[in-house]
Amino acid sequence: MTGELSPIDKAKFVAAKRAVEYVEDGMRVGLGTGSTAAWMVRCLGEMVREDGLKIKGVPTSTRTADLARQVGIEVISLDEAKWLDVTIDGTDEYDGNLNLIKGGGGALLQEKIVATASDMMVVIADISKRVETLGAFPLPIEVIPFGLQTTQALVEETLVSMDVLGNNVTLRMNGDVPFITDEGNHILDLHLNRIGNPRQFSLVINQIPGVVENGLFIDICDAVVIGYGDGKVEVRDINAGTVQEDRIDFVENENLFTDLTD
Ligand code: A5P
Repeated sequence: MTGELSPIDKAKFVAAKRAVEYVEDGMRVGLGTGSTAAWMVRCLGEMVREDGLKIKGVPTSTRTADLARQVGIEVISLDEAKWLDVTIDGTDEYDGNLNLIKGGGGALLQEKIVATASDMMVVIADISKRVETLGAFPLPIEVIPFGLQTTQALVEETLVSMDVLGNNVTLRMNGDVPFITDEGNHILDLHLNRIGNPRQFSLVINQIPGVVENGLFIDICDAVVIGYGDGKVEVRDINAGTVQEDRIDFVENENLFTDLTD
């Protein structure tokens, strides 16, 4: 990558750089997906290569698996790891209770399985992801290909009785064809604008047989690390009820910033 990083990329980078402080020698680490998580994978790779950090990484997508191997992280499956010490991932939205909407990158199913199988989930984000109420970002749900249109109709019917402000449902596309997840499924994006009761919504939508999982992460995230373009970071820990401010010195390092494709 050449040239100055944009303020938003700096914010993502400093959040990632602060979050990898949660990772210690010998840990099994869940590796999230998306542009913010990609910074985290690169930071961990640098710690492995240059500081001799010994970790095993469980990626949440084929994209992240490729990047992790490329930067020198040993990759294992979740079944090999069985349980993880920490998962670090990005988010599309987070609220004051650290409930999330994820899945903008289409990896919500593996992300949710991996985060749930971790002692701790740390989310990394820039401040634009903070919302009062979840739902402005379209909620992704993963659905199986069989009976796709029937499942979509059932989802639309279900939305009528839910505490939401929008009911438009769109099939995510990849060019001219439906987007396919790593599990061979499709994604429906639910344009809800506002989700009044995310906990209830998550339970109800998952009752529809063709729905595999939804992108609401309720009571899964333990801490959020918010990065700013000027190097400031804020760490909010929901269990401890603490907010810490910190600052990350920003040094553009060739190893870290080359070949950034995510
Ligand atoms: C991937 O499926 C998503 O859950 C991502 O974690 C989320 O979309 C955040 O991505 P960015 O860090 O690229 O905004």
